Amino acid sequence: MELATTLKSQTVQNHVREVGINPNYWYAVSWANQVKVGEIKPVMIWQQPIAVYRDVNGCLHALEDICPHKGVALHKGKVQGCNLACAYHGWEFNNEGDCVGIPYLSPEQKLPRAQVRSYPIQEKYDLIWIFPGNPTLAAVCQPPDIKEFDDPEWFRVPVPAKMKAHFSICNENSIDVFHGFLHENLQGWFAPALISLKETESSIRTEYQVSYKGRMAKFLGLSERADKVTTLSVTTEYRYPHFYSSLQGISTLYLMRLPVGPRETHSVAFFFFKVRLPKQLLKLLQPLLRVILQRFVLLRFLAQDIEMMESEQQTYLTNPQRRYVEINPAIIAIQRLVIRQYEQFVQQSKQSQTNGN
Ligand code: FES
Ligand SMILES: [Fe+2]
Repeated sequence: MELATTLKSQTVQNHVREVGINPNYWYAVSWANQVKVGEIKPVMIWQQPIAVYRDVNGCLHALEDICPHKGVALHKGKVQGCNLACAYHGWEFNNEGDCVGIPYLSPEQKLPRAQVRSYPIQEKYDLIWIFPGNPTLAAVCQPPDIKEFDDPEWFRVPVPAKMKAHFSICNENSIDVFHGFLHENLQGWFAPALISLKETESSIRTEYQVSYKGRMAKFLGLSERADKVTTLSVTTEYRYPHFYSSLQGISTLYLMRLPVGPRETHSVAFFFFKVRLPKQLLKLLQPLLRVILQRFVLLRFLAQDIEMMESEQQTYLTNPQRRYVEINPAIIAIQRLVIRQYEQFVQQSKQSQTNGN
C-alpha cells in the first residue's frame, strides 16, 4: 500500500519501546568462525539463552542454555562427539536436546525424562543463524537473500554493532534518512527528501533523495567530483526483522538485527561498494581497504548513531509516559509494523495453544 510522504506531526506509539519480537524469523547470532569444532558459544535472542556448539563432524547445533537437571548454563560444558555434556554432573544431550547419558548411572538403569529445547540452526554468509520461533515454520522462512555476497563486482565490508537500546529505536535510526544532520562533520548526506513510502504486511519501503559533496563522497564513489553536489536516490527497506538499503546501485547495505533483550540490540551489517579500482589491485588492497573503510568511515558514523540511540533509550527509561513528536511518516509506519508483527505472533501462539489443548 502506498502511503503519503507529507511530513506532518503524528502520534508516537510509546509502547513500541516495550514490544517483543516475532521469533518466527531467522536471526544472525554470531560469525561462523567464532564457533570452531568442539567449541561452544553462548548467545541470546530476546532473553532466550542459547548454547551454540560445533560437533566433531563440523555441524552446528543450538540448545537452550539451561541444563534440565539443575539449571546450570550448558555452554560451560563440553562437546562430546555430536553431543553436549553439562559441566556439573556430565549429563549428556544429543542435538535434539534429549538426555542420552548420565556418567554415574549404570547402563541398565533407565535414563530420566530430561529434555532441553533445540533450535533450527544454519550457517550462511559467514554467519550463524538461529530460528527461535515455532520450528515447523523454519523451512518456509529463510535468512535474507544477499546476492552481492559472492559477486566479485562488489567489495564487502562487515560491521558488527552493539547498542543499549530497544530494537525499535535501532530500526527507526536505520530508516530515518532525515538524520544526515548528525553526520555533517563526516561529510554525510544532506538535503534529504522522502519521495515514496510503501507498507506491506511485513515490510516498509522508502525512497529518499539525498545529496553528497566532498572528498569522502568521491572516495566512496558517490559523486564524480569532490567540489560538486551529487543528488542520488536511496531506497531503504525494512523486511521484518532485517533491513536493506541501496544507494542507486553504487552501494548497498544489509543490516541483520539481533534483539538481545528489551534494552539491548546487536547487529551485523554488510556494506557493499563498487570500488573503482582494477580487479588485481583491489584484490591486493582488499584487507587494507576494508580496515580503512571500517575504522575511518563506517565505525565513525556508527558511533554517532549509537550515541543518539542510547540517549533516546535512556530518556525513555527515565520517563516512559513522556510524549514525543514525530513528523516522518516512515517512522510511524515502522512502529506500526513492529507492533503488528509482535501482536500477530502472540495471536498465533494463543491459537496454537488452543488447538493443542
Ligand atoms: S546441572 Fe547439568 S548435569 Fe547437573
Ligand atoms: Fe546514521
